[in-house]
Amino acid sequence: MEKLREKIRHHEYLYYGLDAPELSDANFDALMRELKALEAEHPELVRPDSPTQRVGGKPKEGFAKVAHSRPMLSLDNVTSEEELRDWDRRVRTLAGEGAHNESKISYVCEYKLDGLSMALHYGSEEGSSAYLVRGVTRGDGTIGEDVTGNVRTIRSVPLSISHAKLAEAKLPPAFEVRGEVVMPLTAFLKMNEQREAAGLAPAVNPRNAAAGTIRTLEPNIVAQRRLDFYAYFALTETGENLFEEQSDALEALVTAGFRVNPHREAIRDFDKLIAFVNRAEEKRVDLGYEIDGVVIKVDSAEVQRRLGYTGKAPRWAVAYKFTARAGITKVEDIKVQVGRTGKLTPVAVLTPVFIGGTTVSRATLHNADEIDRLGLLIGDYVKVERGGDVIPKVVEVVEDKDHPRGDKTFEFPTHCPVCGSEIVKTEGEVDYRCVNADCPARLIESLLHFSARKVMNIDGLGEAVVEQLLNRGMVKSIADLYSSTQEQLLSLERIGQKTADALLAEIKKSKSAPLNRVLFGLGIRFVGEKTAQLLAEEFGSMDALMAASLEELERVNEVGPRVAQAIREFFDEAQNHELIEKLRAAGLTFTAEKRKKSSQLEGMTFVLTGTLPNLSREDAKAKIEAAGGRVSGSVSKKTHYVVAGEEAGSKLDKARELGVKVLDEAGLEEMLNS
Ligand code: IVH
Repeated sequence: MEKLREKIRHHEYLYYGLDAPELSDANFDALMRELKALEAEHPELVRPDSPTQRVGGKPKEGFAKVAHSRPMLSLDNVTSEEELRDWDRRVRTLAGEGAHNESKISYVCEYKLDGLSMALHYGSEEGSSAYLVRGVTRGDGTIGEDVTGNVRTIRSVPLSISHAKLAEAKLPPAFEVRGEVVMPLTAFLKMNEQREAAGLAPAVNPRNAAAGTIRTLEPNIVAQRRLDFYAYFALTETGENLFEEQSDALEALVTAGFRVNPHREAIRDFDKLIAFVNRAEEKRVDLGYEIDGVVIKVDSAEVQRRLGYTGKAPRWAVAYKFTARAGITKVEDIKVQVGRTGKLTPVAVLTPVFIGGTTVSRATLHNADEIDRLGLLIGDYVKVERGGDVIPKVVEVVEDKDHPRGDKTFEFPTHCPVCGSEIVKTEGEVDYRCVNADCPARLIESLLHFSARKVMNIDGLGEAVVEQLLNRGMVKSIADLYSSTQEQLLSLERIGQKTADALLAEIKKSKSAPLNRVLFGLGIRFVGEKTAQLLAEEFGSMDALMAASLEELERVNEVGPRVAQAIREFFDEAQNHELIEKLRAAGLTFTAEKRKKSSQLEGMTFVLTGTLPNLSREDAKAKIEAAGGRVSGSVSKKTHYVVAGEEAGSKLDKARELGVKVLDEAGLEEMLNS
């Protein structure tokens, strides 16, 4: 039996570790069946590290918290050649080697796998094989969760490593391996297919899917999801490097039977680092799993120790993050959406394509001119780009032998696709709009905007509810929300007593939302969050604002003639007047305070980083701004204070470097109250 197990382990390693199987699936399954049969006959000889024992019982009380031997840190990012060059220079200087001695530093380049990091602890009992003792998630970096039962189901994680292999790999009896758990794309697509078939929302990307899977309380399900583990660190029990070179550590991990990503390279020349990054970016689309960059590590453990850490990240490693990501897919159709201001936006309906972390099935085409500029036909193949969390965008039409042109011209509608009213294009503007103020599409969009978190923050008033309220004629304008009754809400689909009460409470709560939020919520053209804030501060009340002349409006920062005109037009419209009076009658307070001219933080610039104990980022920003201060995104010599919370990152380091004063939340509150 043990021989058979060893044989199966070997083939598991060839298959899952090296991606180089020597047996067909059928032959491998036959070996497994044979082992299962033998183990069934002799249950007393079943060992926990048997390949048949990957799926065990459920953890009874969730996952236990476990402290890491040494914090699991994150990496600082660079996104350009210049930034990488700066980093490289810093490394060489800090390592005490001038540019003349460049070749002395050697780096190891690895792919930055887009999954979740994991620490695996191995130990041996009687000086024989080493066994997987524990698998721990990163957690907050200091304390993670014990997910051993789930990790055991990952076939590229060895459950045991024979004494001979340990010796060959020069591994001690107890050690820790750190690496990344990823969900391969095939597994991800399959999982989403199943989720959709079961009426569940699909996972947005493989990283989220992997993270969710590893925290599932059902090892059975985890086993089906086919996660993978790639090892990239070999540490002692106390978290020290086991090898003097990172490249040796990776080779030892291969020898011991771990899956180590084959795309790795020891590099001395800066130009070759760049070449590695460029190649990675090219290969990225064909890998079958997601990467979001390249990790560059100083090879020598001794130099690593000399370089040390900056709070949250090592100085001896950096992540080169890829930027905008693109994919090619087909335009199946072009639909026209009606926004809350009545603006018609053409949207390309795409054959779903996986781009940079999410499945993209729609991309904005902005306006009719843009379609002309692209020369886009329905049926064309297009290049779609996504950068950060920006909405996917069609960049160009692709045409080659694999991508023939489409054949259907798109005709921009002459009537609103939702309410059928004639559409209008103002002279000098590119957009067509539906000017029917009662257009249901406009209403839906304005209600959704009104209730959004950054606006009136009415939790629970999502698309499903809004659509029903409108369709049943219970709500015809924003103001009607405030007269909705429990009875009405209960008559909607999928709304029970609890949900209805919660929603009513949320609606009621929103009555005291400050004036700036209400103004933002009204959907006045060109009045976004910031302008609404400035208007509220300047005028201090709804009435003062409504009475303001064009000149008075233009005195407000960021309000030019065009914006002032739009605001005036909005308030001059009888319908809008009526809306505001209805809101007032419903009990909205429109509270605002006129900005105090000399406030305590006037002229001071703050940078926020990390998670504060009580205040959200937005609240802290609002408080600072209300006191006359400014909040900036990056630390410079001009920054007066950095407000740092838990998990503060590179901004905190930068503050220390530049000698900028650092406050915690309590310190900030003190300043605000002084
Ligand atoms: S080294 C202290 N190597 O990227 C060193 N990390 O932002 C930190 N990751 O939390 C980790 N591939 O989850 C390292 N080859 C690789 C990696 C990698 C992916 C992830 C890891 C880490 C994050 C750092």
